Amino acid sequence: MARVGRDAENVLLHGLRKLEYRGYDSAGLALRNGHGVEVFKREGEISRLVSHVGREKPVAEIGIGHTRWSTHGPPTDENAHPHTDCTGEIAVVHNGIIENHGALRRQLEKTGHEFESDTDTEVIPHLIENGIAAGHSPEEAFESTVELLSGSYAIAMIHRGEKTVYAARRGSPLVLGIDESALFLASDVPAFLEFTDRVVYIEDEQLVRISASGYTITERGDEIADQPVVRVEWNGEAAEKGGYDHYMRKEIDEQPSAIRQIVGSHAAADELLDIDPAILDGVSEIQFVACGTSYHAALYGSFLLESRGIPASTYLASEYALHNCSIGENTLVVAVTQSGETADTLAAIDAAKRAGGRTLAVTNVVGSTAARTCDEALYIRAGPEIGVAATKTFSSQVVCLSLFAAQLTGDRSSALADALASLPGDIQRVLDRSKSRKIAARYRDREAFFFIGRGAGYPVALEGALKMKEISYEHAEGFAAGELKHGPLALVTPNTVVFAVFTGHNDDKLLNNVTEVKTRGGTVVAVVDTANEAVLEQANDVLEIPETHPDVAGLLANVQLQLVSYHAANLLGRPIDKPRNLAKSVTVE
Ligand code: F6R
Repeated sequence: MARVGRDAENVLLHGLRKLEYRGYDSAGLALRNGHGVEVFKREGEISRLVSHVGREKPVAEIGIGHTRWSTHGPPTDENAHPHTDCTGEIAVVHNGIIENHGALRRQLEKTGHEFESDTDTEVIPHLIENGIAAGHSPEEAFESTVELLSGSYAIAMIHRGEKTVYAARRGSPLVLGIDESALFLASDVPAFLEFTDRVVYIEDEQLVRISASGYTITERGDEIADQPVVRVEWNGEAAEKGGYDHYMRKEIDEQPSAIRQIVGSHAAADELLDIDPAILDGVSEIQFVACGTSYHAALYGSFLLESRGIPASTYLASEYALHNCSIGENTLVVAVTQSGETADTLAAIDAAKRAGGRTLAVTNVVGSTAARTCDEALYIRAGPEIGVAATKTFSSQVVCLSLFAAQLTGDRSSALADALASLPGDIQRVLDRSKSRKIAARYRDREAFFFIGRGAGYPVALEGALKMKEISYEHAEGFAAGELKHGPLALVTPNTVVFAVFTGHNDDKLLNNVTEVKTRGGTVVAVVDTANEAVLEQANDVLEIPETHPDVAGLLANVQLQLVSYHAANLLGRPIDKPRNLAKSVTVE
């Protein structure tokens, strides 16, 4: 993040706290004041940096800051950004990966540069230093350095001699915020949303200069005068905890309103979705690409399409290019990504485009890279999601994909439409009556947690396991229920808890799997509607969901599983919003 305007240190620290969800193993600031460039860095969370800066009276008008998710070198004070050159006059922050840093570093070391960190980033200030030593201005040195870098980056740089921040972008997000009295650059809008909602999205290969007199954007030497200034829809309050202990809990509770928002905003008279219908012309096959929770939402969407006769396949974005998938003229590649900035997903979109595919982004972030790179964007309108573990955006993605399936197949069966219309109320009922805390307390000391389901229950089982492992750090795995007997059943002991997700898709067979678990001494918690008496008889414990359409039941079951993981993690004292080793927006491949 970078700031030009009064009180830079406090604003930067505030902004870094808002960006902490992107990475939180170390943080730092570089401030330009009358004497030069002052750098503060600390391993650990931003609160440690705040005490380290510890200044009552802010003095800087220009600064850059960073909160890190380590790629090169462990989280230490030395590896925290900003990084400086040998003279200490240049400071740089960087998101992304400099892939040729090894060769650059060797060259720089040979010519006498001394490095203080293990990071790929540190080559940047030293290269700029070389440019300035060769007689170039800081701006020229910055530009020529950027040309030497391969990989992905959003970089910001300050120099002691100028009241200016220089920044560049390739493959990592960078957004400019414009306030009456200040300018900001950041990886994401919440960093400065409290001050302004007017933003300019910086494109790949663009350079930006911000100073007290304004900003300029250039691309390959040409000034871009007409890059649009847009207003973001989110407000600062939506990105606050609002009295909750954790963002994750707040975001779980926001699911009814998030879903009302989608159904309301997309339900125009003729079209279910607020997208250009031309993107769907003649489409007969869908390929989904996504990662993590978004991958599970895509699997759910794929199931809905296939069960309506539309061929659909789902790829982990990081594997997509390796599959060399054939893309026909009637194939639509759909990238599902909350942030719209996940590097693996962006790479898959590029692969699809290179193969001549039509692309659609299903994303939460207006103006994100995925939204701008794909031919069309379908916004899930869930509002900001700050907790690192995705919750409400999974539900909103699946609801969007249900509407997408209905539009593509022309199937507006009233049963499904009715179930979607009652979904917000049904989720509210789950939230109000859930026994998830008791279940979490009862079983939290068990050795392993398995999640099984069939049909739409299968991606929900995968998602249930992902939530449990990422926030509670307990061993958890999700399986297609039929696969248990092909191997994983060997792991089931009296110390295992198996969550069985009943959605109405092959429930009888799922019940067979439940008995297989119980026969081996495992405990079964069924997530099921209470009309299903056969299941109630067999299960050791039950998490109830209201009766609904089978294609929607998985969403209700998922809310129960989100709550179980949340309570388990809370009882175990885990840092729920910022699980170890993870980051919300994974901008490296
Ligand atoms: C899990 C989680 C991650 C993300 C994944 C993709 O709770 O949040 O698995 O789902 O990193 O992120 P997006 O959806 O932003 O592409």
